[in-house]
Amino acid sequence: MSTDATGDYDERVTEEITVTVNGEEVTAEVEPRLKLSDFLRNECGLNGVRVGCEHGVCGACTVEQDGRTVKSCLSYAVQADGAEIETVEGLTDEAENEDGSLHPIQEAFHESHALQCGFCTSGFVMATKELLEENPDPTREEIEEGLADNICRCTGYQNIYEAVERAAEEMRE
Ligand code: FES
Ligand code: FES
Repeated sequence: MSTDATGDYDERVTEEITVTVNGEEVTAEVEPRLKLSDFLRNECGLNGVRVGCEHGVCGACTVEQDGRTVKSCLSYAVQADGAEIETVEGLTDEAENEDGSLHPIQEAFHESHALQCGFCTSGFVMATKELLEENPDPTREEIEEGLADNICRCTGYQNIYEAVERAAEEMRE
């Protein structure tokens, strides 16, 4: 419920959605205006989904939806009804070790010192995942192109590119 300028109460419209998030089905009542990024952070508690620019420029909010990366600040949660979403939190489950260890891409970012504040990192990791699934042995130029939708304000990118090369090598073995 909310009040308008006249002080009258206004019943908010909500819609029930069911989304598979990191392998688990989540059903929730959401307002149609709720962004997918806010749904994942606030309803699902997945704070690895970062909200930076909120208009599709920085890539911090990048997640996978039905196998392709999307900027979750650019769509509404209701549009993800029935979809499968994977966030950076889901990647540890994909790692071969069952002890909660990091995915090779996460490990490579760590090993290559590819993060400083880390705000951009989950978006870069998800973008890297898509890049390496499509091209397991990318050139430096292909990496730069593949990550062009993500912005890092701290690292100067060199260590990020090295991390992607390291992850690619690891994942090809
Ligand atoms: S927060 Fe979505 S692209 Fe910046
Ligand atoms: S590590 Fe700080 S914005 Fe990328």
